Amino acid sequence: MMAPEAAAAFGPFDGRSWLNTAHQGPLPRPAVEMAARAAELKAAPHRIGDDDFSAVPERLRGLLGQLVGSPPDQVVLGNSTSYGLHLVANGLDWQDDDEVLVIEGDYPATILPWQRLAQLGVRVRPLRPAGDLLAAAELTAAIGPRTRLLAVTWVDSFTGRTLDLPELGAVCRQAGVVFVVNASQALGARPLDVSVTPVDAVVACGYKWLCGPYGTGFAWLHPDLLDRLRPQQAYWLAMQAGRGLDQMRETSVRDDIGVHAFDVFCPANFATALPWIASLELFLGTGIGTIADWDQRLVDRLVAGIDPERYRLISPAGGPARSTLVVLSAVDGSSEKRHRRLTEAGIDIAYREGNLRVSAHLFNQPAEIDRTLAALHADGPG
Ligand SMILES: Cc1ncc(COP(=O)(O)O)c(C=O)c1O
Repeated sequence: MMAPEAAAAFGPFDGRSWLNTAHQGPLPRPAVEMAARAAELKAAPHRIGDDDFSAVPERLRGLLGQLVGSPPDQVVLGNSTSYGLHLVANGLDWQDDDEVLVIEGDYPATILPWQRLAQLGVRVRPLRPAGDLLAAAELTAAIGPRTRLLAVTWVDSFTGRTLDLPELGAVCRQAGVVFVVNASQALGARPLDVSVTPVDAVVACGYKWLCGPYGTGFAWLHPDLLDRLRPQQAYWLAMQAGRGLDQMRETSVRDDIGVHAFDVFCPANFATALPWIASLELFLGTGIGTIADWDQRLVDRLVAGIDPERYRLISPAGGPARSTLVVLSAVDGSSEKRHRRLTEAGIDIAYREGNLRVSAHLFNQPAEIDRTLAALHADGPG
């Protein structure tokens, strides 16, 4: 079992095992170097060229397009998952009594932006799947005449389950319902090609499985959705596109700038954009498929080593619904204590909603999984 070469670009981790990428992915060293470079540029600003203010965001946009299989002109630069979700929520033309479907208990970031629309008369209806996953038939049955949009989290932070996007997306397409996907717990650890997946918007942060800095994110928008969205902002630098510095005082609000009308302000935020570019180059150079295979081998090892008499596996044990998030519950109720014990032993995992969550990625090694299994099964939580 050989890790991809890119694994060597991470760390050192001070002897600890970071098994909590679902919370924060670590920056690989090339990204750390670019973060230092960004600071050096700002320390002596003559080092920053005027062109860098457009070249850097466009480079980032291109890499993100490559990541999801889209041209760059469908990619909006953000600073979080929430940025992308809000721009869709605030950009659509809502009517009184329009309905948004969500999944009950989903991550708050995926639900809250639509709840904010209550003041416009929009209703949010949580769906409670009969099983672990929202099934296509349940969605078909739930869609009514006022249903405009479905917002879901692809890989769930609390249960680790993965939704079947093609199946749910096909139902949405058929019904003319906009399908919005929060892919923050998936992108970087599982491939996605939006050119063959029936989705309308895919949003993600950059700081988990894509190992970018905190404060990064993006949204991919289907061209038909992009056409329907009304920008909420008129950012002066975006409006300046293609104009010289001799035309700075031109203040017409332009409608011909595509995705640029939706970008976060200061998209050339060098301090975050430059390191994220380095991380993305490392990931794309390795291949997301290769990374996903490695991650799944680590998950195989972990799942196979768990004693079912000691732990209940909350996340799927196998099959397409399994992700890189392995969620466990100690049968004797000692999950929280066990979490503390692991932290003391130098193993960083998450404790969420009463459960343990182990999330291994590209830079983790099988020996770290074995170490975690040993600590999980050591006598008494203490
Ligand atoms: C599913 C999911 N969405 C979003 C976020 C974070 O949202 P944001 O990038 O807006 O801070 C998290 C963080 O844990 C998450 O697990």
